[in-house]
Amino acid sequence: MSEPKSPEIQSVLTEGRQFPPPKTFSERAVLGSMEAYERLYAESIADPEAFFAERARELHWFTPFKQTREWNHPHVKWFLGGTLNLAYNCLDRHLTTSRRDKAALHWEGENGDTRSLSYLELHREVCRFANVLTQSGLVAGDRVALYMGMVPELVIATLACARIGATHSVIFGGFSATAIADRVNDASARAIVTCDGAWRRGKLVPLKANVDEALDRCPSVERVFVVQRTGNDMNLVEGRDVLWHEAMATASHEHDAAPLDSEHPSFILYTSGTTGKPKGVVHSTAGYLLGAYLTTKYVFDLRDDDVYFCTADVGWITGHTYVVYGPLSNGATVFMYEGAPDFPEKDRFWALIARWKVSIFYTAPTAIRAFIKWGDEHPARHDLSSLRLLGTVGEPINPEAWIWYRKHIGGDRCPIVDTFWQTETGSIMISPLPGATTTTPGSATRPFFGVEADVVRKDGSPCGPDEGGFLVIKQPWPSMLRTVWGDDARYQTQYFSQIPPYYFAGDGARRDALGNFWIMGRIDDVMNVSGHRLGTMEIESALVSHEAVAEAAVVGRPDEATGTAVVAFVSLRPGYSPEAALKEALKGHVTREIGALARPAEIRFTQLLPKTRSGKIMRRLLGDVASNRQTLGDTTTLEDLSVLAALREDQE
Ligand code: PRX
Repeated sequence: MSEPKSPEIQSVLTEGRQFPPPKTFSERAVLGSMEAYERLYAESIADPEAFFAERARELHWFTPFKQTREWNHPHVKWFLGGTLNLAYNCLDRHLTTSRRDKAALHWEGENGDTRSLSYLELHREVCRFANVLTQSGLVAGDRVALYMGMVPELVIATLACARIGATHSVIFGGFSATAIADRVNDASARAIVTCDGAWRRGKLVPLKANVDEALDRCPSVERVFVVQRTGNDMNLVEGRDVLWHEAMATASHEHDAAPLDSEHPSFILYTSGTTGKPKGVVHSTAGYLLGAYLTTKYVFDLRDDDVYFCTADVGWITGHTYVVYGPLSNGATVFMYEGAPDFPEKDRFWALIARWKVSIFYTAPTAIRAFIKWGDEHPARHDLSSLRLLGTVGEPINPEAWIWYRKHIGGDRCPIVDTFWQTETGSIMISPLPGATTTTPGSATRPFFGVEADVVRKDGSPCGPDEGGFLVIKQPWPSMLRTVWGDDARYQTQYFSQIPPYYFAGDGARRDALGNFWIMGRIDDVMNVSGHRLGTMEIESALVSHEAVAEAAVVGRPDEATGTAVVAFVSLRPGYSPEAALKEALKGHVTREIGALARPAEIRFTQLLPKTRSGKIMRRLLGDVASNRQTLGDTTTLEDLSVLAALREDQE
């Protein structure tokens, strides 16, 4: 594992604009003042057990917990002895309230199809699929992979797994067959739920065909459930494949949710790290749910008449926590959209917001940068007056994009919550509370309750105001990851050995004199492309698996649209010549091995890569070359200085 590098602190950002919460917003907010935040935050840090035990009682328990927390560094358990069920908390408990007939889910397909399900209807569908899973022999603790488009059945399947206690592993629909096989095999999934296809920019994504290709290499999978969404031809394997609608037709809509231990592994979600193999981040049941529930309630300030639209795919953690578990456990109305934001036109999101009267909108800075590029006229054409709150997640947002978002989408009236968190944290860690916090463009502001965040130096000592350092979390929080699937040693070294004894999040940050956090981005070998995490090692491994490649080094280069663009430096095996066609072939190879999101924007052939005397590739230097930056840092450990000069000459 690579060491965290010292973040190079270039605080060119001197952002002074401040936006206090609008009075009318604060008056009706779940939490309406900074004093209230400060008081609750202080309580949550002074006695996290008492604080979270009280909040956990807002959830439904089959058996109450006996002990609030057991902290055996670096392993934590929360709400020991309690049993509960995620799906029960998201569905059943609303059925005895006025929310029973309220819309749980509004959905619009890319082609304009629509579907709405009340809490009662969603409950019935989830129960049906839970029965289908049980009848297929699946039991609590089995792993079930979901590789689907953004259709209501994805939410149904997710909750059905939770209902029987099958640990779900959602695999983003943009991943390739190889990526599916790696994830399915790592978790030894017994079943997979997929769709015939998905619509994306009017084109068909052949999901089932990708699954078929992957399953040639996945002996653990006994059953494949297929939702028919696009109606394209597909191959059905006798005895293995089952059509969703046929199985559902005969399944009962009654089902008793399984009482699961508070620490039961609710799901695995694979994410990139600093080594070649993606990590299966494992989340608990009770602690995860409490984090999702509480952050959604406070950060999104949910009210019963809200229509809430999070644009993330359920294949990412944002979709898990803020499309499914957070809003549904709060009894919210979730709006879900299947397709691309620019199909058929570049105003699709704004048309959706106007049509469905969306009041809370949560998206990524990379999307906002695309909206800016597409032009102000697209949002201007639509009535966005239903909006009352905006959010961002996934990467630092540059202040100008923040201001544009506030003006052109939020009509200068909606607060913006810039939410910092990670797959591993399960729920939001640092964010404004919209009725309380004065926001400043580009800052995620203050930690959520129970999150003891700090910015420290390499030796763990706290940084002063505006001094850049490592973002750490000093105490465990309920929705913290519990381990890495099948590799607890990796959990310990990855997260707790770099700035011991703290949880190190992989990000550089600074805290200003007001106590606001400014996240400066990843300082390990992880890139953030369009708000998605990609390990440089993963892409390098994919490249090296091509017959023409001897060695590869991958770095990020700043990119206006995607935040970071992937640039690969490749040296070829003897007998291969550095031709343009080979560059295209290698880009295609990475797409096949991982998925389109990892496709390099640029490939540069080189005979040698800059290495230290001990043989480590100096990615920092390659980053300078890729971005056309002067190399200011230390090059004394470089084995051969001429390599750098040669690289600069060879541009695509
Ligand atoms: O670098 C941080 C960045 O995204 C990383 C986590 O990526 P992932 O696990 O894929 O989860 C993304 C969605 C929660 C972080 O280590 N990041 C996330 N949110 C922000 C952010 N960087 C700055 N500001 C944010 N609000």
